[in-house]
Amino acid sequence: MAQHTFLKGDANWWRQATIYQIYPRSFADVNGDGLGDIKGITSRVDYLHKLGIDAVWLSPFYPSPLADGGYDVADYRNVDPRLGTLADFDEMLEALHAVDIRVFVDIVPNHSSDQHPWFQEALKAGPGSAARDRYIFRDGKGANGEEPPSDWISHFGPRGWTRVTEPDGTPGQWYLHLFAPEQPDFNWDNQDVYDDFITTLRFWADRGVDGYRVDVAHALKKDMSDPMPSIKSFDYAVTGEDVLKTIFDREELHQVYREWRKVFNEYDPPRVAIAEANAPLYRRPLYASPDELGQAINFDILHQPWRAKKFKTSISNALTLAQAAGSSSTWVLSSHDEVRHASRYGLPKGTNYDNWLMTDGTVPGINYTRGLRRARAAEMLLLALPGCTYIYQGEELGLPEVADLHDKDLQDPIWIRDGKTRKGRDGCRVPLPWTREGSSFGFGTGGSHLPQPEWFGDYSVEAEDGVPGSTLELYREAISLRKQLQSEEQLEWIDSPAKTLHFARPNGWQSFTNFGAKNVPAPAGKVLLASRPLKGNLVPKNTTVWIQAS
Ligand code: GLC
Repeated sequence: MAQHTFLKGDANWWRQATIYQIYPRSFADVNGDGLGDIKGITSRVDYLHKLGIDAVWLSPFYPSPLADGGYDVADYRNVDPRLGTLADFDEMLEALHAVDIRVFVDIVPNHSSDQHPWFQEALKAGPGSAARDRYIFRDGKGANGEEPPSDWISHFGPRGWTRVTEPDGTPGQWYLHLFAPEQPDFNWDNQDVYDDFITTLRFWADRGVDGYRVDVAHALKKDMSDPMPSIKSFDYAVTGEDVLKTIFDREELHQVYREWRKVFNEYDPPRVAIAEANAPLYRRPLYASPDELGQAINFDILHQPWRAKKFKTSISNALTLAQAAGSSSTWVLSSHDEVRHASRYGLPKGTNYDNWLMTDGTVPGINYTRGLRRARAAEMLLLALPGCTYIYQGEELGLPEVADLHDKDLQDPIWIRDGKTRKGRDGCRVPLPWTREGSSFGFGTGGSHLPQPEWFGDYSVEAEDGVPGSTLELYREAISLRKQLQSEEQLEWIDSPAKTLHFARPNGWQSFTNFGAKNVPAPAGKVLLASRPLKGNLVPKNTTVWIQAS
């Protein structure tokens, strides 16, 4: 068995890092069952090393019935047998650490799987039991408790409560689930829950894990006062920021993270964490403060249209907030929850992505060339910013969304829960193409749990490796250059023509992006890298260029 390996060194390693998100079930499949596995990750360490990243974040690989792609965890301190064993995990960690790549695991504290032993125990134990107190059970309303305790919806569909059948066979209490019914929410006022997550954090840190991504970090503590407040929508614009903010994102939640921080700081270097917190922007510094999780995912730029002004405002806000938090900002364009950005940027302005997916990606039409050019330009822009950049597996190949998955193949609970009106997130989770041809394009030998389209081979690692100008080579070069040039220093905006963004970083490093439709002159200096070849001294549309100013 591999020894537990620990990477020592700089406590601030994460502040300016490049982090690669792996969705393990779709990364690489060594045992040929069509599902990616831990050994698959180990088998691709060279690839990750060559990409130049500082760390990987692994989406959940724990035992799970897969009601929500693994975000329904049945055992927080183990590996899903379909993905391997703890020994495989140790071996993977050792191999990654050997090339200085650190590892984040995903902690899912808001809810467990309904197959978690605690939830099964709660079902059997009945109302008022200590086992039920670990989750959020309530009596229903109406004469016979047939109405849910409140109008709360779930993120995946119309109702956030499900009624159980009691051990004596009668219709019984209701339990809360902010996501699928197979994902019951924990009661974070319960000491067992609190203690168990501390044990989980230590379990992974003791194995040598370097950090955690914290799922749904804003919602652990809820306003459950009687009568319960109303939630008909999770959209701030609809329900009102003040309302949602008092239900979630509560003061007492921050005490939990302050306690977690003490655990992180027991280690050398301290473990780090990043919050997936859907809280109002001005509240985010709290999660990102050095007393709490340390960083927060910044989704803002991901939702901006391809416009210089919008990008500039988003960047300035994020940098100000990160400074207020004593943290560094984070940047991300794609994830396992979002339509891939190479597709988003190819769609007409204002496209509703859910509706587009429902047409199998046919209406409105997409311009793939433009999408990819913008995707490459946007990523270079992000990599030039101060802070930590997150890359989602496959974006380094320029992969577009697989928009035409057949209904029968969809796995995302959103599809069923929302009455088949939204396809959900499977199109960005299709297993990676490693080779131009062959069984599942080199993903494995036993097919692929989500079908890959015929054109996938054109975006494979094999098709791009060593090919000058390919997206893979662009990422490699950009990440490597950034590593040499990056520092904690803030950026300085430089005045530039309309529809362009120009900023300076330390030691003469400058980034210039042309968002407009016309060629514009490149800033003075030596061209270090461009997302698209320049036309003489002109920067074409949808292009970022890095300059070394003298
Ligand atoms: C987070 C995850 C998402 C998951 C949800 C529920 O938003 O990123 O994939 O469905 O939490 O755990």
